[in-house]
Amino acid sequence: MCGIVGYIGDEEAVPVLLKGLKKLEYRGYDSAGIAVLGKSGLLVRKSQGPLKSLEKLIGDETARGALKGTMGIGHTRWATHGEPSDINSHPHTDVSGKIAVVHNGIIENHAKLKAWLVAHGVSFRSETDTEVAAHLIDFHYNGDLLQAVQEALKRLEGSYALGIISESDPDRIIAVRKESPLVIGAGKGENLIASDVPALLEYTRDVYYLEDEEIAVLYRDQVEFYSREGQKLSKEISHVDWDAGAAEKGGYEHFMLKEIHEQPKALTDTLRARIKTYGAKTINLEEIGFDASWAEANRVVIAACGTAWHAAMIGKYIFEHFARIPTDAEIASEYRYRNPIYHPRDIFIIISQSGETADTLAAMRMAKKSGARIIAITNVVGSTLAREADLVMYTWAGPEIAVASTKAFTTQLMCLSLIALQFGLLRKTTTEAALSGYIDALEQLSDQARKILDGKENIQRFASLQFNKAKVFFMGRLFDYAVSLESALKLKEISYTHSEAFAAGELKHGPIALVDTSTLVVAICTQCALFDKMDSNIKEVKARGAATVVITYDGVDYFDKTADEIFRIPRTLDSLTPILSVIPCQLYAYYCAVQRGLDPDKPRNLAKSVTVE
Ligand code: AGP
Repeated sequence: MCGIVGYIGDEEAVPVLLKGLKKLEYRGYDSAGIAVLGKSGLLVRKSQGPLKSLEKLIGDETARGALKGTMGIGHTRWATHGEPSDINSHPHTDVSGKIAVVHNGIIENHAKLKAWLVAHGVSFRSETDTEVAAHLIDFHYNGDLLQAVQEALKRLEGSYALGIISESDPDRIIAVRKESPLVIGAGKGENLIASDVPALLEYTRDVYYLEDEEIAVLYRDQVEFYSREGQKLSKEISHVDWDAGAAEKGGYEHFMLKEIHEQPKALTDTLRARIKTYGAKTINLEEIGFDASWAEANRVVIAACGTAWHAAMIGKYIFEHFARIPTDAEIASEYRYRNPIYHPRDIFIIISQSGETADTLAAMRMAKKSGARIIAITNVVGSTLAREADLVMYTWAGPEIAVASTKAFTTQLMCLSLIALQFGLLRKTTTEAALSGYIDALEQLSDQARKILDGKENIQRFASLQFNKAKVFFMGRLFDYAVSLESALKLKEISYTHSEAFAAGELKHGPIALVDTSTLVVAICTQCALFDKMDSNIKEVKARGAATVVITYDGVDYFDKTADEIFRIPRTLDSLTPILSVIPCQLYAYYCAVQRGLDPDKPRNLAKSVTVE
């Protein structure tokens, strides 16, 4: 997720762009840049690092009155393709430097387009997908920037919000939206573009929300709208009454709730560039450099901390299910001090949202020293983990601001499923025929997650009744046990409720001694073959006074007589249920924290990334 701004009007553009970018830093902050069009032509300034690095870079020029111009575009980056660096920062230009582009999203066919452009004599400077757009627009430019953009759009695949300006077309900004958000601010004698409303509020509260495949052409005194095919459109103006703080959270009260709701899109983004849907559906992990040798492993070890370790646990089940390869899930802080035994051709999958967790990095380095090969699953391009691993699969979830990890977790599971299916194909434990069905199930998860979120009020109601429970236990079997662990962590870390999880089969080996009328027990029941076992466990805790909640599939009435409350999720493959069953638990934890008057985004004693032991 990146931040885009643009301005055309009578004021100097640079201060407006910098202020707008400041408001969008929560969308991406590993580099920033601006392009401004004035008497000196089109000038581009950009740098790696936070926005203040860019401000420092241009401080002298702006102080002596350079970088003048009343039209420009700007960008804060959350890298997806190409590490954070000056040259990979946006804006990107064509070879002549006369067309500048800022982009939020992923151009999925960038490699193919880049090869085509290089074959036509275009030389590239950066490793980004975005630069392709700048050259493609230039390639199609015959004096009309709008027409060139429309021609280029016909060849772009993926998601993109684009801001485009050209030295040869000095009186308008062109903005395009496909799946990545873009808002047009309608001012008096000035107009703006932005990825999100906060960047506009200082100038106007009158906005147009661009829909997918729409193009906006901003002049100083008007805005025109076109369809992708060039048909002129008329759009309704909206008035924004959010305050600036709420606007950064997309109108949600907290980043955590916003990020829970970003999961459907994050799941789509994580999946889409990794499956081939033309012809027979199959997995496509070429982008991470995967080859058949990776599947010759004797064993897979998945190491991580916290929520990422819960993903690792689920990864164990997924790998042994799809690839029938012995798989261990290791807590990194335990692993690093255990003097572990290595097998030849071990493969390690190291999971870390931040890519900077000290224990996780230590475990990775130990494994690497032993000769194992490392696949990283991380959300941060250019993180230490990403730089030291042999292969990297990004979750592309966008910045996760809340300390409690939510969208990172579900997209980690998506990545693990894709890698496990790839292993299964190579080891012939998964057939091409079965694969198409698995991919269908993966593709449905985004809409299924959205359906669960649509029912959040029911979970909010339940939390308003139960938030003061002294003890909350989560239990489940197999995949549901791992989700129970994650759910207990979510609840304890943001609501400070004593919550714990156990394998339901362990109930009678100890935990049942704690069950009484002050206890709420959440039973996660998605493993159909074990419904009868779970039903017995629920009856056992109910008999001792516990309030019982079941999370199970739509249409399952197995627990109707035993559960006090049932939250339902859409049906999917047993191995994919954690991506869905965790969502009601994320919401429950969030609403309990809010009911307790706590700030879910900044829980006490916790940091977003534990970079020290
Ligand atoms: C999860 O909600 C916590 N914030 C914490 O357990 C986190 O998952 C853990 O610190 C690992 O962080 P990482 O994924 O950045 O390595």
